[in-house]
Amino acid sequence: MDGAAIVLAAGRGERMDSTLPKALVPFGGATIVARAVELASAAATVSVVVVAPPGWEAAVHRAVDAFGVDAVVAGGQTRQASVRAGLSAVAADVGRILCHDAARPLASPALFTRALEALEGWDGVVPVLRVIDTVKRVQDGRIEGTEPRDALALAQTPQAFTSAALRDAHDRAAADGFEGSDDAVLLERAGYRVRAIDGERANLKITTAEDLRLAEALAR
Ligand code: CTP
Ligand code: MG
Repeated sequence: MDGAAIVLAAGRGERMDSTLPKALVPFGGATIVARAVELASAAATVSVVVVAPPGWEAAVHRAVDAFGVDAVVAGGQTRQASVRAGLSAVAADVGRILCHDAARPLASPALFTRALEALEGWDGVVPVLRVIDTVKRVQDGRIEGTEPRDALALAQTPQAFTSAALRDAHDRAAADGFEGSDDAVLLERAGYRVRAIDGERANLKITTAEDLRLAEALAR
């Protein structure tokens, strides 16, 4: 199956309280980024580009070397800028691109494959979890109201896109000065058709030290 994966690992991990960038924190006998890259390369992609914190490219390269990575490039100030940096390292003739957060090292390789397969006839694919908790609006410790949750879902990565739509959506967002927290939102605002598929409960995003402990327990 043809495609490229961009693994986003350029964040500093400020909420994690670690001296190392989050991607290089030990996890599952390796590092967070190594586990994420292992998943991406186990999926049927032809190339993997890893986006590293500026100045940490060599360290990230060493961490992921075993998995046949094609390029390690320096990221930007925001996740979106880091994706753009990754895109510039993906060959122009690659038709489909997966974007995956290194902070989600527990996605299954099958999720990458499902996301790519679901892309048929669509511009983008997002794994989602239906919201099962009751959703409250909270301001300064006071509950202000309750949101209907039926139409709400939580977005995960890997997200899959046609290369043309992903590149165009990023160009438009950059031209408009729009900053989004995932890639799908850039396609949504540009009018592309983005499909939801079932995400995975275990595919949690490591943000805090507590998340890391939870993820370690799940990995065991
Ligand atoms: N990311 C990135 N470049 C940035 C910011 C984030 O590549 N400038 C990546 C992170 O490495 C992570 C993913 O985007 O895999 C999701 O971001 P997040 O979980 O917020 O990670 P950090 O930005 O590293 O964490 P924090 O916000 O706590 O600093
Ligand atoms: Mg962040």
